[in-house]
Amino acid sequence: MRLIVPQINTGAYAARLLKKRLKDSKKFVLGLPTGGTAVDMYSAFREEYSKGNLSFKNVVTFNMDEYFGLPASHPQSYISFMKRHLFDHVDIKPENINIPDGNAKDIEKECFAYEEKIKNAGGIDLFFGGVGENGHIAFNEPFSSLQSQTHKVFLTQCTIKANSRFFNSEEETPKTAITVGVGTIMSAREVVILATGFKKAEAVRAALEGAVSSKWVISALQLHKKAVIVADSAACANL
Ligand code: GLP
Repeated sequence: MRLIVPQINTGAYAARLLKKRLKDSKKFVLGLPTGGTAVDMYSAFREEYSKGNLSFKNVVTFNMDEYFGLPASHPQSYISFMKRHLFDHVDIKPENINIPDGNAKDIEKECFAYEEKIKNAGGIDLFFGGVGENGHIAFNEPFSSLQSQTHKVFLTQCTIKANSRFFNSEEETPKTAITVGVGTIMSAREVVILATGFKKAEAVRAALEGAVSSKWVISALQLHKKAVIVADSAACANL
């Protein structure tokens, strides 16, 4: 896995990369994250879109994850986040937006159907992601199977605490979610993980310098042919 520490901010770097990848593509399948780091990335996407440098009209998106049991209309559901930060501002076709349904009655069926949808779309061309302080990617917490497919997860205390900043309290923060698996991410043709700030320094170290281990799920990307971490200097503090 390569490390890139861009001169510009990681979000702007991601927007430039996407612009390159979309050039001349008839259809492009894009995997997308949520979270604080992604906010800057979507702001850069919107900026490039408003300048006429990016268009999503041929893009099909698959989000990485969604809270379980949180109403879709809740401002902190990942579908609300995506509308607020990207979908409501660009020319993506509504039928090309995919995100796991955290309120599906039959979760097993929903997870299976989500994997099938990705396969039927031809697989993911580029997966953008973030990383948790504990090395999780999407919501694949430490000791997840490195071959996992879309599934329901119980979030760790570390993740619940980190995500509680978006809610009124830790009690209100969802404890479970649906996430694509590590295997789903590994199947993407390209994976780009954004990491910013000192809090991510240990995860970045484990990703680049540690052994491949489910203890630090992100380390699985060492086995991917085309995976990079795009980090700022704070996130590289432990290298
Ligand atoms: C959540 C998301 C992850 C994301 C992580 C990092 O846990 N499910 O996909 O990578 O947050 O978020 P942040 O960028 O806010 O640190």
